Amino acid sequence: MSSPITTISNIGKHEGQTVTIQGWLYNLRESGKLLFPQFRDGSGLIQGVVPKNTGAPEVFDAIKGLTQESSVIVEGKVRADKRAPGGYELDVSGVQVVQRVSENEPYPISPKEHGVEFLMEHRHLWVRSQRQASILRVRAEIIKAARDFLDERGFTLTDPPILTPAACEGTSTLFPVNYFEEQAYLTQSGQLYIEATAMALGKVYSFGPTFRAEKSKTRRHLTEFWMVEPEVAYANLDDLMDLAEGLLSFVVKRCLERRHSDLQIIGRDVTKLEKVEAPFPRITYDEAAKMLQEAHANGALENKFEWGCDLGSPDETYISSQFDKPVMVHRYPARVKAFYMEPDPQRPDLALCVDVLAPEGYGEIIGGSQRMASYNLLVQRIHEHGLPEEAFKWYLDLRKFGSVPHGGFGMGIERVVAWICGLEHVRETIPFPRMLNRLYP
Ligand code: 4AD
Ligand code: MG
Repeated sequence: MSSPITTISNIGKHEGQTVTIQGWLYNLRESGKLLFPQFRDGSGLIQGVVPKNTGAPEVFDAIKGLTQESSVIVEGKVRADKRAPGGYELDVSGVQVVQRVSENEPYPISPKEHGVEFLMEHRHLWVRSQRQASILRVRAEIIKAARDFLDERGFTLTDPPILTPAACEGTSTLFPVNYFEEQAYLTQSGQLYIEATAMALGKVYSFGPTFRAEKSKTRRHLTEFWMVEPEVAYANLDDLMDLAEGLLSFVVKRCLERRHSDLQIIGRDVTKLEKVEAPFPRITYDEAAKMLQEAHANGALENKFEWGCDLGSPDETYISSQFDKPVMVHRYPARVKAFYMEPDPQRPDLALCVDVLAPEGYGEIIGGSQRMASYNLLVQRIHEHGLPEEAFKWYLDLRKFGSVPHGGFGMGIERVVAWICGLEHVRETIPFPRMLNRLYP
């Protein structure tokens, strides 16, 4: 085929011209003397038209009866058509079948409905569906937007290790690794390491996979997930809340600008996302606890919330449903939070921390805090949390050599993808999800 190769997403630039597309047969509708093959190439979907009589007969014969997901290189003339989903159709004039899917073993994911377990078992093929491809494009956009936001504001990307000698977020969700006969763990968060690089570079962030041996089966938990973690020297809790709201509104706006058609394919109500603009509501944990207790009193919440507990999923869902923007809940009781959080000088039983809860019941998407400055208190907390002081010697050094107030947060990519795309479960937010009962494919 001699015509220029293009992608379906760029096809509008070639109206009236003959082009070549390299892709797969997504679907085929046959209507007597007309074939309507739908082709996909990873960038989009386009419908072709192949008439039996006027067109080349060998093209008609090659496409007639062609099996779903057979790989094809097609040539055709681009024609604008208002009724077509992408605005264009292809009058197919040539086709080369690269690999024909056998009739004896057809592509397992047919356009009919399949159960989630079946689809998860075929995740390596499921990602080809239009909706899943759109979700992955939104995911890529979210990651790019977060990185652009931080890069443009003077942050330096510093990559923490994935193999680590100690816990960061509690010992109950550690994945052990045998490291040449030494005990190591997959990282739960890059935070402790980027606290070190923040003291070297001022404003830093990490972006990478993190691991939690979560034994719970919920729609919000993966065992392997990706986090963007900014860490800032000389930042206080208010600075962190400003940064979090700036980051989230930037990411949402970027997706609305650049991924509108994907959000449409996914079926997202974008009017909800259009409301996500700074400033976000900020409430204290005390205020949140009061809201939850009142909700219980007038029957809106089943369980009575006890001050001093961490917020459960139904609690987060309730609070976030009271606002149409992400809500920032700050100053939780220190005892339900991680060992490294700075106490509130006004009330040392509280931590200078913040959780950002996404609207529409999506729950926590960001967690962060100011970090503990005092060497002695940090040693005490390490012991209280049953952590080995030996493994934290280097971390404690940071409080000996030019310690400054500082802090940061982690934004879970999959939680943000689930919220922005309006998905019920995080399993569709990452190409190959890892969960309690899923390690295949
Ligand atoms: O609140 P977390 O546990 O905070 C930290 O790890 C801090 N060290 C981050 C920091 O301050 N640099 O996790 C941060 C975010 C959560 O808000 C959530 O979005 C996501 O990571 N997250 C998970 N996402 C999917 N599956 C899980 N099991 C998750 N656990 C946390
Ligand atoms: Mg958290």
